[in-house]
Amino acid sequence: MRSFAGRDILSLKDFERQEFFRVFEIAERLEPIARERQMSDLLHNKILVTAFYQPSTRTRLAHESAMLRLGGKVTGFSDAKMTRAGDFYQESIKDTVKMLEFYGDVIVMRHFQQGAPHEAAKWSSVPIINGGDGWGEHPTQILTDFYTVMREKGRIDGLKWLAVGDMRMRTMHSLAYGLSQFDCPITFVSPPDMSLTDEMKDDLKNYSLNFREAEHVEQAIADADVILVEPVVQPDYTKSRDERSGDVGGTPANYKITRELLATKAKSDAILLHSLPRMDEIPADVDITRWSRYWQEAFNGVVMRMALLALVLGKME
Ligand code: CP
Repeated sequence: MRSFAGRDILSLKDFERQEFFRVFEIAERLEPIARERQMSDLLHNKILVTAFYQPSTRTRLAHESAMLRLGGKVTGFSDAKMTRAGDFYQESIKDTVKMLEFYGDVIVMRHFQQGAPHEAAKWSSVPIINGGDGWGEHPTQILTDFYTVMREKGRIDGLKWLAVGDMRMRTMHSLAYGLSQFDCPITFVSPPDMSLTDEMKDDLKNYSLNFREAEHVEQAIADADVILVEPVVQPDYTKSRDERSGDVGGTPANYKITRELLATKAKSDAILLHSLPRMDEIPADVDITRWSRYWQEAFNGVVMRMALLALVLGKME
């Protein structure tokens, strides 16, 4: 297995099966620090730089919290408009990263352009972690989801997945590539104009992913062990910021997971994941049902980032 030390985390396309298990193992070892709200000094002499060119609550703060829990320090910008990349100069990723690499030891980047973190990694001497790139990928979110499944179900292989939402979403792409390393059939349910592209389907066949598509969650929910939901009413992820203007409409029943649907159709031990934020695709009254695991996912998001930071900074092997 390759070492994680100094490595960029850009995509789950290049993750090998044993590497998933290595990350889960490190996460499990570090988890007590977060659970007991403790601090360690594992990364006491390290600095994380956050370079977010798009809004974020979870990804940025979970990385920051992870770094602080491990005794490291954090710097970065949360509003790219107040940097030279966001003003008259429109400073390039290359020039920006050639600065940031001297300000810290690892950089987590979110960008509206697909491939921006990959471009950053070409120029950076410190590891780049992709915190979501346009419609590209969101590897740390799906690592969090896989870790949640491991903790909740004790395994990943052999579980049937249902993914509901916009298949252009970066989380869906990382999910599909990640699952190709496991024995996990998956059904995708999305509006026709948000379905997997032919190019993506060909790619997933090359990756030997066992997948099918359905039109309505009711056609697939009864078989699912893991139900992963994303919004179909959502912003344009290729924009730096997309504010809501006027009525954006509700989620059609085909893509909505209600309490009644879970109670009547889902397996009693299925688990329901959502990376959040949400619109109305999972109504709030689902939160206290036995299926929901999205708050657990939020906690695991910190633990997973602790593991990744410890690994890429060479403090755990
Ligand atoms: N799940 C997720 O990526 O959330 P944020 O956009 O708040 O980071």
